[in-house]
Amino acid sequence: MKQFQIANGIHMLTMNVEDILFEGIWEIANGVTLNSYIVQGDKTAIIDGVIGWDGIPEALYENLKKIGVDTKNIDYLIVNHMEPDHSGWISNFRKIKDDFTVVCTEKAARMVSSFYGEDKIRIVKEGDILDLGNGKVLSFHPVSNVHWPDTMYTYERGTKTLFSCDMFGAFGKMEDHCFDDELTPEETDFFEFEGIRYYSNVMATFTPSLRKAIEKAKSLDINAIAPGHGPVYRKNPQKIIDDYYRFSLYADGAGKNEVTILWGSMYGMTAKAVEFVEGILQREGIKYNMLEMPQKSESEMIATVFKSAGIIIAAPTYEYKLFPPVAAALNELGRKKITGKLAFRFGSYGWSGGAEKELKEIIERNKMNWDFIESVEFEGAPREEDLVKIEAGVLELVEKMKEKVVE
Ligand code: FEO
Repeated sequence: MKQFQIANGIHMLTMNVEDILFEGIWEIANGVTLNSYIVQGDKTAIIDGVIGWDGIPEALYENLKKIGVDTKNIDYLIVNHMEPDHSGWISNFRKIKDDFTVVCTEKAARMVSSFYGEDKIRIVKEGDILDLGNGKVLSFHPVSNVHWPDTMYTYERGTKTLFSCDMFGAFGKMEDHCFDDELTPEETDFFEFEGIRYYSNVMATFTPSLRKAIEKAKSLDINAIAPGHGPVYRKNPQKIIDDYYRFSLYADGAGKNEVTILWGSMYGMTAKAVEFVEGILQREGIKYNMLEMPQKSESEMIATVFKSAGIIIAAPTYEYKLFPPVAAALNELGRKKITGKLAFRFGSYGWSGGAEKELKEIIERNKMNWDFIESVEFEGAPREEDLVKIEAGVLELVEKMKEKVVE
């Protein structure tokens, strides 16, 4: 765990977490940070808490000491939302100190109470103020369904710092650079992808609510954005606001100027056509990503499809249906409400087809509204005439995806 001063009287504590499944689901290849913020006026508030997945907050207490904060002097726990990656230390804290007040929205209060048995709770609504003294004034701004229903922003008026909870967050570990102005170009790219991974894995289902949260952030005069995960934006907070808006467009079918091949093959027949397609994309100078399922993690799969303007689905028929790992991937994309993508499918079949029927069912059942170029199916190995049709489909996709590109 590390500590940084982000403004006079405001500190950040941040800890890298690895080798976990985030939310018990997401295998995050590059880890994640948990950020906590301490605001000191005459009274002291801690906004969210940093603990390991083991729920033990001793490292948090040690690091509070290092910035001169005695845990006994914490007056307020601001719970921007109740998800236990931020709030899981409350019960433990109650064991060492009894006189503090939890500050949160009404929806969070119910969960803080049911999860941790807390009843000393101050419920806040839009625009409510908590004056900590000595120039530190917090205001509270609910941003429902980002991604939990109880979420709120906390804003410190004197320093114009927005503590944005999960909003504007990113996966990815932070080493020595925790502020946007410190990041190298490589680290900036790293956190852009980890932001996409975070948005697509955790937030995408709630895109309409995120757009409202973007508007609320724009209505505040912001010097710095301090999220619960990932870097603090103090040089150019507008960049992460713009990035998040762009990500919201990816959820509706836009993407970077790249193609993702989401594919699987039982005995190499569909794989032969995939290899052929790679050659076409290389010849045409199109950036492309390969997602062979089930080898790739769900986290990587969702993030990569999400950010691409063109999707190629290459999968055979398996037991009268779509190759199951690819079907599962598409169902997960549907659950995440990733809609409006431009796509083209091809695949092999043996004694019967059926993949195409299930593909249509998945797209319709999940209301994904993907725009498909006519599919190509072939019996056994792809023949010359099949490859000609596949090439035509790929070239049509490459042409049409220009309308989808937002970078
Ligand atoms: Fe970072 Fe929604 O918890």
